[in-house]
Amino acid sequence: MSYKLKIFETPEEVAKAFAEDIKETVEKNISEKGECNISLSGGSTPKLLFDILAKEYSDKINWKNINFFWGDERCVPPNDNESNYGMTKKHLFDFINLPEENVYRVKGEDEPEKEALRYGELIKTKIKTGIEVNNFPVFDLMILGMGDDGHTASIFPDIIELWDSQNICEVAEHPVTNQKRITVTGGIINNSKKIVFLITGKNKNYVLKKIINKEEDYLKYPAALVQPVSGELFFYIDKNAAINL
Ligand code: 6PG
Repeated sequence: MSYKLKIFETPEEVAKAFAEDIKETVEKNISEKGECNISLSGGSTPKLLFDILAKEYSDKINWKNINFFWGDERCVPPNDNESNYGMTKKHLFDFINLPEENVYRVKGEDEPEKEALRYGELIKTKIKTGIEVNNFPVFDLMILGMGDDGHTASIFPDIIELWDSQNICEVAEHPVTNQKRITVTGGIINNSKKIVFLITGKNKNYVLKKIINKEEDYLKYPAALVQPVSGELFFYIDKNAAINL
């Protein structure tokens, strides 16, 4: 697995550097094909990134040429505190000139099995990259977080078999809260042209070190299965997450 590690002093520096990278990635894709298809991660780490994009890039990025999707969503309504869409709207969408039709949210309020099917079909019809590998569409940028248990998107270690599903999306369940989630699976993640892990904090270091150093049993962590078919893989991390890497 080849990857590029980008280590910064603080989470703010990580977010600033990645925001600039996003601008460049969007510009490159727009110049090549007129649009950029991005899959967003949820949780709390991206909030800083979204705040910086909202504050410093609102007039520096062609938002109308970007289509936003999610790598996972909690099965809750969009105005629920747990909603990844709701968090993104609050920290980013409410501050940029982004046409509503460019936002492809997972309908967390709908029946999970039905929504997993619908969302998978939506990704298939909306992403016209023309480069379909392993029958999965290709995201231009796949942003991922990692839980301190090594999960990514909403594929947790106890349901790691979902990674190899032939479906674009599956219904997952949080191992502690039993909260239902819709998640993309390994095929579409690894097909992406560019995959970026955004990982900060000491609590992520134990698993991240195992994955990066390929220590024994590292493949039991879903985040370790992120290995692009032909794209690039980056880790944007802070020094606390990077101890002993
Ligand atoms: C989610 C995410 C999930 C997240 C990790 C890290 O819906 O929670 O998409 O995969 O990226 O759990 O979460 P934090 O950023 O909150 O640590």
